[in-house]
Amino acid sequence: MTIAHAPGKVILFGEHAVVYGRPAIAVPVSEVQAQVHAEPGEPGQGIVVDAPDLGQRVVVCDAAEENPLAAIVRLALVAMKRSLNLDLTVTVTSTIPIARGMGSGAAISTAIVRALAAHLNHWFSSRTISDLVYQTEVLYHGTPSGIDNTVIAFEKPVYFVKEEGWEVFWVGRPFLLAIADTGIGSSTREVVGDLRRRYEADPARYEPLFDRAGAIAVEARTAVEQGRPEALGQLMNENHQLLCDMGVSSQELDRLVIAAREGGALGAKLSGAGWGGNMIALVTEETRSRVDLMLRLAGATHVIVTEVK
Ligand code: MEV
Repeated sequence: MTIAHAPGKVILFGEHAVVYGRPAIAVPVSEVQAQVHAEPGEPGQGIVVDAPDLGQRVVVCDAAEENPLAAIVRLALVAMKRSLNLDLTVTVTSTIPIARGMGSGAAISTAIVRALAAHLNHWFSSRTISDLVYQTEVLYHGTPSGIDNTVIAFEKPVYFVKEEGWEVFWVGRPFLLAIADTGIGSSTREVVGDLRRRYEADPARYEPLFDRAGAIAVEARTAVEQGRPEALGQLMNENHQLLCDMGVSSQELDRLVIAAREGGALGAKLSGAGWGGNMIALVTEETRSRVDLMLRLAGATHVIVTEVK
């Protein structure tokens, strides 16, 4: 039996604007993980993906083409030039909350590719894994920028520009992020699609918002590299306001953002697609417990603190 993992992620700066070609920054979150076991199956069973956390058991040869669990198995086996005619059980578990902007789908796909490759003695580069996973991101999300599969496959902070490329960047001084869940699920496909419709009806309204979000991501990268995390707080607050202006925040997200700032966070913003899901707050060793308390009092169903390094 082989076991493989992949982390969750949060977007630090530039969500949504990244879909329109502006830079964005994302970091892996190793406190939550997708885990996949691959083991030989019963003769004649074919390839079965068992994902109890998702309430799914998929027999790959019978599954619809657009089923992401079956699709990533097919893509990985084709890339390994292996037949689909195998008897394999692939068991997926995950502590990454689903539909909360933490990259659950991309992490599950990444861990499946890693587990299949390890089981079949194949080596994939992180770039190939990211490219394979991107194809299932299209099934999950419609028109993904590609940032989620990149940050999860490389497991490093990434500065990402759609269709131009990405770079792993250096964190000059580690810093702490509180990640708080509104408890409300949000479909990236729906939020991205809704913004797309509003953008197409009035591009002049949204272009300046995307431009400023992209410029913030550039400034933030420099601040992270130079080890000036305190400069990030202001940029996070400004990015959150831009996301509100894009129409992707929600009352629950705004409440958590305000609570985090009142608790002493240096800055706070929604993270990911919005309308629900998670927000992030920049905290220190001194402020983390007060911010955690304020977030829970304001309705957060779950709070984790991760170190960005
Ligand atoms: C989702 O994690 C981030 C969005 O920018 C969509 C994308 O980049 O594909 C909202």
